[in-house]
Amino acid sequence: MSTVLQTRLAAELPAISRALAQAVDSLPASVQPIARHILNAGGKRLRPFLTVLSARLFGYRENDIYPLAATMEMLHAATLLHDDVLDEAVTRRGKPAAHTLFDLVTVILAGDALFSHANRLVAEYGDCRLSACFSEATLRTAVGEIQEITYRRRVDQQPEIYNEIITGKTAWLIRASCEMGALRAKADQRELELTTQYGLQLGMAFQLVDDALDFAPPEKTGKPSCGDVREGKLTPPLLLYREHLAPAERAAFDLRFCSGDLDDAAAQTVGARIRALGFDAQSRRIADTHLEKARVALHGLPDAPERSILEHIIAHVRDREE
Ligand code: IPE
Ligand code: IPE
Ligand code: MG
Ligand code: MG
Repeated sequence: MSTVLQTRLAAELPAISRALAQAVDSLPASVQPIARHILNAGGKRLRPFLTVLSARLFGYRENDIYPLAATMEMLHAATLLHDDVLDEAVTRRGKPAAHTLFDLVTVILAGDALFSHANRLVAEYGDCRLSACFSEATLRTAVGEIQEITYRRRVDQQPEIYNEIITGKTAWLIRASCEMGALRAKADQRELELTTQYGLQLGMAFQLVDDALDFAPPEKTGKPSCGDVREGKLTPPLLLYREHLAPAERAAFDLRFCSGDLDDAAAQTVGARIRALGFDAQSRRIADTHLEKARVALHGLPDAPERSILEHIIAHVRDREE
């Protein structure tokens, strides 16, 4: 991460953390242990950081941006609680996933409580555009996750479907994080469009890089490696791998991929080949095309110091290793 980015993030993190801690303290007691488990485990805090930057970019000076930004991290944390249940993932942010420590149904409901509490905090701003933005992000994320399940363990997934899935499950929340800040700052229509375009493209790239990082060691990501292989998600690295196989090999792979017969050892073998063939790196190259669109959108926005930080975030998403 560049020093400029690191410095600004370090400057914003205390206020973001305070707002988050306050929000968690005001949760019902039964939800607090699970909320603290996921929120205290770390995380890059990319989404609330984007909200703060997108507001400051348009000259917004008030500190009520921090509690608003915190709602984006709460929404994100809730999706992670649910996502690890769906993906049967056992680690998150370098810690055991919540559903391995707490009752599974309680974890799902705690995720709902976290969503709803964040929703209530947004409503307190009394701006229906903020509330609509929050609801849209919740809806899109859920629908994206459902669509991913629909296509799990299938090899007939068209590239447009993959784009739809990642737009929903990941990019929309990153887009909304930017939109929230711009809305609070009362940016004009054109500025809003460019800010959301930046967020959407950054978000798509973010997931494409995450799909590359699925093949990185768990010590780096804090998440299980090759989970997408085991779970039968035809992400770009897997799609490229499958396409490079000779017909007989491909038929054998399809059989195992579609029947859910790839255990951890088999998934790690596939993962090693994907890394050796550079298909994870190729997912990053696809991400670059989205990052370029994000950069173009950003350049239509005011030349404030935050614009340069948002540009550093583009480079960070491209190169990130965690
Ligand atoms: C993980 O998001 C979920 C995806 C959308 C890929 P992050 O990589 O931002 O996770 P944390 O918040 O840093 O843990
Ligand atoms: C992220 O997809 C989507 C959401 C968390 C909603 P992944 O399933 O790839 O995310 P990780 O890899 O578990 O963080
Ligand atoms: Mg997952
Ligand atoms: Mg992933």
